[in-house]
Amino acid sequence: MKLEIDTDARTLSIDGEKGSRTLPLYSDAAFEEISELWKVVGWNQRYTYTFTWLGRPIIQMPEDLLRVQEVIWMQRPDVIIETGVAHGGSLVFYASLLDLAGSGKVIGVDVEIRPHNQRAIETHPLKSRIDLIEGDSVSAETLAKIRSAMQGERCMVILDSNHSKTHVLRELEAYRDFVTVGSYLVVQDGVMVDLEDVPNGKPGWSTDNPLAAVETFLQANDDFALDPPHWVFNESTLTKPITYWPSAWLKRVR
Ligand SMILES: C[S@@+](CC[C@H](N)C(=O)[O-])C[C@H]1O[C@@H](n2cnc3c(N)ncnc32)[C@H](O)[C@@H]1O
Repeated sequence: MKLEIDTDARTLSIDGEKGSRTLPLYSDAAFEEISELWKVVGWNQRYTYTFTWLGRPIIQMPEDLLRVQEVIWMQRPDVIIETGVAHGGSLVFYASLLDLAGSGKVIGVDVEIRPHNQRAIETHPLKSRIDLIEGDSVSAETLAKIRSAMQGERCMVILDSNHSKTHVLRELEAYRDFVTVGSYLVVQDGVMVDLEDVPNGKPGWSTDNPLAAVETFLQANDDFALDPPHWVFNESTLTKPITYWPSAWLKRVR
């Protein structure tokens, strides 16, 4: 695909699989096209590896964090389970929101919690709202530990560990029952589907990705439905998120 931006003429010209067209530069459609490209180039340049939250590195796209914040603030879950802890930034992010809401805790699961990350999380001011479990997210032992750490009624689950189709599908099956009706099971990093041809992408990602797992899961689990959260504030004409989590938001509907 070829994109040509002419700031003098204020146009964006696109020459791609769907033919050629020219859009006004200052339009929602042009913004969406430019954002899609920005997203993929930014992924390659490790844009999401440049942020911290309350002192811990957090590997996320800022817009995705703002959206999940909106949901957590509205739904006030009692428990958020997250698979994939890494440096702990996202755990601390969710814990900080629950702390402001006045209740709730986060259960973080990772196959390998490095000692310096564990120390930093366990000495963090929000530690009282965080439980750490080291283990494969789909092992029987890990799932038993999560069950015994559960408290309260409303539970949201966020999957951010191994993003292969096989692993995400196993996680979806293993974690679906933790999610309460009306809450979300969030499957992160579906953006992989668009990254196969990017320099730092990998062959096979166009089919081996979280979206493929979501598709298979939804065919067999009609108590979940794709239901991306509505924007609670929007004084623009924009409607599409700039997200690394396409088709991520599975709501438990019964
Ligand atoms: C993308 S990082 C998580 C980033 C973190 N959620 C954040 O936003 O900063 C993925 C993590 O998943 C973990 N992981 C990979 N395979 C796993 C598995 N089978 N079970 C649990 N954790 C796994 C890795 O060790 C790594 O720390």
